[in-house]
Amino acid sequence: MTEILTCSNIHRTFTRSEKRKLEIIKGVSLSIEKGKISIIVGKSGVGKSTLLHILGGLDNPDEGTVLIDGVDIHKLDDDKLSDFRNKEIGFVFQFHHLLPEFTALENINIPQMIAGKSIEDSSKRSLELLEIVDLVDRKDHKPSELSGGEQQRVAIARALANNPKIIFADEPTGNLDSTNSAIVHELILDLKEKFDLTFLIVTHNKGLIELGDRVLEMRDGIVV
Ligand SMILES: Nc1ncnc2c1ncn2[C@@H]1O[C@H](COP(=O)(O)OP(=O)(O)O)[C@@H](O)[C@H]1O
Ligand SMILES: [Mg+2]
Repeated sequence: MTEILTCSNIHRTFTRSEKRKLEIIKGVSLSIEKGKISIIVGKSGVGKSTLLHILGGLDNPDEGTVLIDGVDIHKLDDDKLSDFRNKEIGFVFQFHHLLPEFTALENINIPQMIAGKSIEDSSKRSLELLEIVDLVDRKDHKPSELSGGEQQRVAIARALANNPKIIFADEPTGNLDSTNSAIVHELILDLKEKFDLTFLIVTHNKGLIELGDRVLEMRDGIVV
């Protein structure tokens, strides 16, 4: 068993004022295995998104460490962390966050070009990814010219652009109808099985929970 991510004793408090401090994450420790789908469930407002952001380097913990493939990500300076996120971490959110003025192909090119690849090499990889998510015929469409399910599949392709070590997904089908959700769920399973990809997914969708190799529950600031 190979662990791709290990976090220990993560704490996060949001301070609204001196008197109103809210400790949301109260000492979370967990390990995520390579090539598996790990699911986090839990009531709304319990801190799932906050935890995912901390594990993915989008937010800092007040205490605790996150190791991804042996790298203590919160010890990196801002530039190195941005670079690490770009190359080693994929993120899929509930809303696609594609850039509206760019086509599907260009949206998948962007993280690759930020990583220093040429437009030719980036486009080649983006086309391969569009093939995998079954959207080659939509490559020149802008996000507004794609359905919700298609937008989310492009967002998944973009998350995979630089071959990340782990993909974080926060309610990836929370905004989709059941037909499109099922397509995205099948895609996630396919990606795990064909490419040995590692997913950490926050969801309350039963169909997606069923794909989990492991289901963790967040409750009262800890993961049980
Ligand atoms: N930046 C922030 N400032 C203050 N409070 C926050 C912030 N982000 C989240 N919270 C609060 O932390 C709690 C957990 O939020 P979140 O992680 O989004 O929960 P979940 O994803 O499980 O629904 C909520 O009560 C939310 O209002
Ligand atoms: Mg959330």
